[in-house]
Amino acid sequence: MTQQLSAPPKKHWRSAAAGMLFVLGASGAPPALAVDWSGIPTTEIVLFYAGQSSWEWALTQSDHSGNEKFRSGKDCKKCHQTEEKDIGAKIVSGEKLEPDPIAGKPGSLPVKIQTVHDGARLYARFEWQAPDPTGTKMDADTAARVTMMLGDASVKEAARAGCWGTCHDDMIGMASAPSGGEITKYLAASRTKITRQGGGENYKSAADLQQFVDTGAYMEYWQAKLNPGSPAEPISGYVLDKRHQDEQPVVEATASNEGGKWTVVLSRKLKMGGKTHKDLEPGKTYYVGFAIHEDYTDHRFHYISLEHTLSLDQGTADLVAKK
Ligand code: HEC
Repeated sequence: MTQQLSAPPKKHWRSAAAGMLFVLGASGAPPALAVDWSGIPTTEIVLFYAGQSSWEWALTQSDHSGNEKFRSGKDCKKCHQTEEKDIGAKIVSGEKLEPDPIAGKPGSLPVKIQTVHDGARLYARFEWQAPDPTGTKMDADTAARVTMMLGDASVKEAARAGCWGTCHDDMIGMASAPSGGEITKYLAASRTKITRQGGGENYKSAADLQQFVDTGAYMEYWQAKLNPGSPAEPISGYVLDKRHQDEQPVVEATASNEGGKWTVVLSRKLKMGGKTHKDLEPGKTYYVGFAIHEDYTDHRFHYISLEHTLSLDQGTADLVAKK
């Protein structure tokens, strides 16, 4: 734990000046802490392009034959792990679930992930090679974005389906989005009624929603917006009835881009003491999902992971963040 967070070899600081590589903490502040990543185990997770495969789509037998078994207890990953590349290729091509395919876009993105904590903060490091640009820019201001969603057993869908628990058919860019609709991610539990088209504006009462916050029944997210040659822009928040973004991000982010290879570290304090971010502690299992928007994309045009588990110090989770 002596090296500076994501610190490149010294010679690279010169190329940083030339705009080729850039490493800085949030708001230009120095990174909170030094982590030596070299001895920390790496897990490779293949993120894949999922088009308009919403929660409701996955739960409809005529759309998705996995529905019945999912409902009777088999999680998404149980059936689909190792198929990520094939599923992504099928969807990105427009063969199914994607009415507006982007020519030249790869169907999947392998990402190397490491996690560690130091008793005060949890760090997650992501490393991937940016795919060749397609020439299509939806969000011209953001070359890439990396997001981690995190929940615990109080959100059942987080445990069983990761990101799909927050992805609904009426969200922006999804198949049942009302025209001009602005619906962002939400959990089904925040609605009084859900149909094949999603939960629309059928919100539960403010008191009910508050109850979910109080009992930790939300998913939080950590994100960094990325542009080569600029500091990473950290963003955080939680998803319940919609995507709530923190005014002041509770996450710090550092990033470097070298020859198209991104290295990004997201971190936050283990103990938040607040309401809408979990206190992270050993002995508990957390459920995480990862998403990367590559090549100036927005909304559904991203790569996502199946559901994965995370624990601190020990256990059988997919990712064990040791001290
Ligand atoms: C019992 C195994 C099973 C489970 C559990 C399951 N699926 Fe599937 N899934 C399938 C099968 C079989 C197909 C291919 C044919 C189809 O669409 O019915 C498929 C297709 C898909 C596809 C489209 C890609 C393709 O190859 O056709 C996506 C996306 C998908 N599943 C996502 C999910 C998600 C998300 C979950 C969890 C909410 C899930 N699946 C749970 C069996 C399963």
